[in-house]
Amino acid sequence: MTQDIATLPAAGLPATLVSPARKVFIKTYGCQMNVYDSGRMADALAADGYSSTDDIQDADLVLLNTCHIREKAVDKVYSALGRLRDMKKVREGEGREMMIGVAGCVAQAEGEEILRRAPDVDVVIGPQTYHRLPQALRRARAGERVVDTDYAVEDKFDHLPDAPKVEGRARNVTAFLTVQEGCDKFCTFCVVPYTRGSEVSRSLAQVVGEAEKLVKTGVREITLLGQNVNAWHGKGAGGETLGLGDLLGRLSEIDGLARIRYTTSHPRDMDARLIAAHRDMAKVMPYLHLPVQSGSDRILKAMNRRHTAAEYIALVERIRAARPDIAMSGDFIVGFPGETDADFEATMALVETVRYAQAYSFKYSTRAGTPGADLPDQVDEAVKTARLAQLQDLLLKQQHEFAEACVGKTIDLLLEKPGRMPGQLIGRSPWLQSVNVDAKTSQIGDIIKVRITATGPNSLFAEVAES
Ligand code: SAH
Ligand code: SF4
Ligand code: F3S
Repeated sequence: MTQDIATLPAAGLPATLVSPARKVFIKTYGCQMNVYDSGRMADALAADGYSSTDDIQDADLVLLNTCHIREKAVDKVYSALGRLRDMKKVREGEGREMMIGVAGCVAQAEGEEILRRAPDVDVVIGPQTYHRLPQALRRARAGERVVDTDYAVEDKFDHLPDAPKVEGRARNVTAFLTVQEGCDKFCTFCVVPYTRGSEVSRSLAQVVGEAEKLVKTGVREITLLGQNVNAWHGKGAGGETLGLGDLLGRLSEIDGLARIRYTTSHPRDMDARLIAAHRDMAKVMPYLHLPVQSGSDRILKAMNRRHTAAEYIALVERIRAARPDIAMSGDFIVGFPGETDADFEATMALVETVRYAQAYSFKYSTRAGTPGADLPDQVDEAVKTARLAQLQDLLLKQQHEFAEACVGKTIDLLLEKPGRMPGQLIGRSPWLQSVNVDAKTSQIGDIIKVRITATGPNSLFAEVAES
């Protein structure tokens, strides 16, 4: 009988000295908060003896960190689980373990249902209980099929370990930092209030502490994350209530931190202090993702967005008055129930007025359990497709116009990673564009002056500017 190579002790080492380390492969779907959470899950697993791998064939544990926002996102997860089932069968034939875990918003929303539809899944774990992941895996290994989707009373952030210490170079020049989770706004199309629970802010001390640690590892730019990041609130030393603008001020004081961004904001939570931060704080980057969803007041009301198109436009004007060069980004939904041609034209008109540098647009996807699912007048799929194409044409045109307007400008570029060509690096402009420039690998993490020379399909080109 042949023995599987993976179970043989490494050559020359007594079996007791061979590391029993298991390997985890994590696939992340959905938003940046899931990207952040995947990192934290990897840290929690590292503290439990797992190392991360990019090679699924090498993994003892495959973890899908899932998204529930649109039907397509959920379909992707179930088709991935189908493929994993086949892979697990092959593994079992070889006598090797392969556990399957489902985390994230599909885990939270569907819970037990996942075990019914995908019987090979070992662990289903919701976003609020990631600190209990190692424990859940142990229970699964003992033969249980685990579903842990409580809203844990203890705060997961208090229990997740720090990233393991890295010697020498930073892991990354840029990092995400979740400061707020959940949502109480209940837009009628959206599952987030159900999958992430009600709004919770992390404390000022916790956020500042984590930011300082990131900067010590070499991080130069931090993006603060939250489903409603500008609903963040905390307490100051004197017990006073603080908002996101105050948090940006406190983070600005960290030496070595060069840039701060935040996403995603809700128009109703853009207070005067936060707008002023864009005027007063050099480290706060001139880029703002401020979803509006629709330009029709009737549809905005049906969506429960609680603002009108005119209020949104006035808000953008106040923000531009504070920071004239700010790049606006947004999210749009076409084909919300009851949307007429006139409503859609109002969205197009709003886009013409605001002028976006970047945007994301989607066809409305009916989500069971949300109020939108029960509304009459669901819009025909073909109509949604046509409207989406028309809207995306306009948004893309504006994106190109914004990029073209950058040509000739001298800007600060944060060098992030190697480019496609040897001798080239890719950096980020203040407006979040990828920029290619000739530079040495040793310059990664530096901010240099460059002149934008040309635009490409997804990035810009620049030359180093003589100072
Ligand atoms: N908290 C953010 C959005 C989080 S979800 C906000 O309030 O803006 C990200 C985006 O997904 C939303 O802005 C919306 O454009 C889109 N989205 C959410 N639910 C959707 C649905 N049911 N169908 C289509 N798009 C949806
Ligand atoms: Fe969803 Fe609305 Fe909350 Fe954003 S504000 S997460 S769209 S319910
Ligand atoms: Fe998706 Fe959950 Fe983020 S539903 S968009 S992964 S909060």
